[in-house]
Amino acid sequence: MTTSLPAHDGKLLVLLPGMGAVATTFIAGVEAVRRGTAQPFGSLSQMQTIRLGKRSENRNPLIRDFVPLAPLDDLVFAGWDPIPDDCYDAAVRAGVLEDRDLEPMADFLHGIEPMPAAFDRQYVKKLDGTHVKTGETKWDLAQQLRNDIRGQMEATGATRAVMVWCGSTEVYLSPAPCHMTVEAFEQGMKNNDPAIAPSQLYAYAAIMEGVPYANGAPNLSADFPALEALAEAKGVPLAGKDFKTGQTMMKTILAPGLKARMLGVHGWFSTNILGNRDGEVLDDAASFRAKEVTKAGVLDTIFQPETYPDLYGDLYHKIRINYYPPHGDAKEGWDNIDLFGWLGYRMQIKVNFLCRDSILAAPIVLDLALFLDLAARAGRSGIQEWLSFYFKSPHTPQGHVQEHDLFIQHFRLKNTLRVMAGEEPITHLSEHFAAHTEAEEVE
Ligand SMILES: NC(=O)c1ccc[n+]([C@@H]2O[C@H](COP(=O)([O-])OP(=O)(O)OC[C@H]3O[C@@H](n4cnc5c(N)ncnc54)[C@H](O)[C@@H]3O)[C@@H](O)[C@H]2O)c1
Repeated sequence: MTTSLPAHDGKLLVLLPGMGAVATTFIAGVEAVRRGTAQPFGSLSQMQTIRLGKRSENRNPLIRDFVPLAPLDDLVFAGWDPIPDDCYDAAVRAGVLEDRDLEPMADFLHGIEPMPAAFDRQYVKKLDGTHVKTGETKWDLAQQLRNDIRGQMEATGATRAVMVWCGSTEVYLSPAPCHMTVEAFEQGMKNNDPAIAPSQLYAYAAIMEGVPYANGAPNLSADFPALEALAEAKGVPLAGKDFKTGQTMMKTILAPGLKARMLGVHGWFSTNILGNRDGEVLDDAASFRAKEVTKAGVLDTIFQPETYPDLYGDLYHKIRINYYPPHGDAKEGWDNIDLFGWLGYRMQIKVNFLCRDSILAAPIVLDLALFLDLAARAGRSGIQEWLSFYFKSPHTPQGHVQEHDLFIQHFRLKNTLRVMAGEEPITHLSEHFAAHTEAEEVE
């Protein structure tokens, strides 16, 4: 290891508000890898190598050997949910993993029970939660969440914690005056301001306890000035939002390729059917609106219609999500892409992705937990743009343009790791060309 980054020691507590399909698939997956019965497919932190220096140097360690990430054996888990099922029952109900995976670790999963949630049906209309905190004000609930975090640190003996929101998609909210400063936000919690949703209370509690926070859902949670400033002040890393899985992952793989080849696109129609609880929540128009907004921005920033009006100026982008219970967690996405090439001749691409959302999301939760913990130890605070790779709508500082191109995001993530660990970033210029240019510069 070439790094001077602070070493990991002790246990890392992964806190999960929302213990549904994604969270339980993540926890059970980590446990399966620890038991040696599965491999962490889909996780960069566990499986990917990183090239250091010139190709000819042949230095290609695994990322997890290159930077001091917490090893899986040192992860412990806790979470909250308004539904009291323990992790085993919740995993069975989610229907993602099969008995053959869950049964051998049933005792372990039964042992992880959710704490009562800070929950309000106003913000997730399709859920009827009973396992909930009570308090006069949102401020009281936030204090209870802070106590929970401290209690879990003590109970598990963890030295550090990270929080990844895996809760349901809340209704669409735009930033209000209470989101502008820390003082206004704290006052807003005390006044029960309706613009403050439960996920924001978790984010606030995490930041106040020095716990890095990532938002896996599309709702407004930590992406506003008050919590961004608080995170900077407390030295806490933040990332979000909305895990990049399924259809959006495919979009951000395909669109950069079409654009690189200067192929025009007239239309992109995306539709999904899914039957899990997430799908049911998204059946509510207000929750769907939050999802629609994070999904919609992707093509515009990749195609840059203002720079390339002839190619992308008339792009018609339509997104649909339909709740269809028979499909369960096995989501089906269709994309129809109407494109054109030389002399304007038209072509079509059809993508039918039979994906499993939580299977794609679980390794993202793992990587985010480990990289956010690393970022905190490396002294990074505030918005971590280098983790854009994992999100549909990357949380970026005011005035920065979101980067959606999966390949640029990937390049940035790896270069950030290199720089964090004191290595040179990589440009991918050929060695011959680079040597030539250096020689010219010397002259
Ligand atoms: N599955 C994916 O690939 C994927 C991709 C991107 C984003 N997401 C988002 O991740 C989130 C989780 O997805 P899922 O498939 O696990 O959904 P899920 O419905 O199975 O689980 C969400 C859980 O959150 C709980 N919850 C709701 N409000 C809460 C609160 N205030 N506090 C604590 N818990 C709360 C619900 O009771 C439920 O158990 C959703 O918001 C979803 O939109 C999922």
